[in-house]
Amino acid sequence: MAKIINGEIGQFVPWYDTDGNEINVSDGGIIYVDGVYHWYGMQLRDLPARGGGQGGQTTLTGVAMYASTDLEHWRYEGIILSCVNEPGHELCGPMRFERPKIIYNAKTKKFVLWYHYVGYPGDHGFTEGTAEAGVAVCDTVNGAYQWQGHCRPIDEKGLVRDNTVYQDRDGSAYYIYDRQVGDDRCLHIVKLSEDYLSFTKEYRRLDVAFWREAAAVVYRNGYYYMITSDLTSWAFNQAKYFRAKALFGPWEDMGDPCVGDEDQKTFHSQTTFIFKVEGRDDLYIHMAERHNTESFLHCSYIWLPIDFHDDDTLSLTYQKEWTI
Ligand code: GAL
Repeated sequence: MAKIINGEIGQFVPWYDTDGNEINVSDGGIIYVDGVYHWYGMQLRDLPARGGGQGGQTTLTGVAMYASTDLEHWRYEGIILSCVNEPGHELCGPMRFERPKIIYNAKTKKFVLWYHYVGYPGDHGFTEGTAEAGVAVCDTVNGAYQWQGHCRPIDEKGLVRDNTVYQDRDGSAYYIYDRQVGDDRCLHIVKLSEDYLSFTKEYRRLDVAFWREAAAVVYRNGYYYMITSDLTSWAFNQAKYFRAKALFGPWEDMGDPCVGDEDQKTFHSQTTFIFKVEGRDDLYIHMAERHNTESFLHCSYIWLPIDFHDDDTLSLTYQKEWTI
């Protein structure tokens, strides 16, 4: 039984690892392997949000991982995808491995990590080499991931902003991202190759998800659900979710999933990932982050169970604390 403490809306509640250090895994996800949950994300710095590579929203170290069998006690496993701090190197910090997501490829027996690559100095850019999709690969879930490079899905025109990855029940996998071409920003879904290391030519623009980001997808009972945020940088905003019978759509706009959310700011958080609690029929956790723009080391994690309803809708209700 794990106790989840989200705190008051607006409060930053630190979560600690088994060494007593604050857990620091920004905008990542969870992958369950052989009885162990692995929680990973970008390791941020004790600094406010600032440009010029000086901000806490960038990393000098890379993507960190923690492990737990009960979702409450998290052991630090170290950096799994490391910055290379040699000037001029593509992984030289400060940079961003934003919104990293890991999936396992059963055919190649590799763990594949995709992320939104923001090269040095880690401020969102528009030029080649920034705003791309990056990929790394490893034989074990918590080993040293080997960087495989970065590129833009679909074509070079479309900058990559927030991304996620979704693995379907048939083993196919999809890269979902906020594609920016000038002022046009819209979520797109691109099918990955069989080894998950590159993009196929199959993709869809999800017109209904215009001007949305921070997507997370879950499948249940015949429907795919995608929870997203509005596009207001670090400022909290209203969530909205979509529903579809197939990943390539059509997707329906289902409105705000948050119930009793007085100022309509997703309980002061932004979606990061959805995962299923193993051994529980219907328990899916919506992971979100309360970004702390005064110090990114002290962001806090907001975990809520998703309520699914008989009419194939879903909702989120805030709980200051609850037990899994
Ligand atoms: C957020 C987005 C983050 C990051 C930030 C600004 O809205 O979800 O991933 O891009 O804006 O840098």
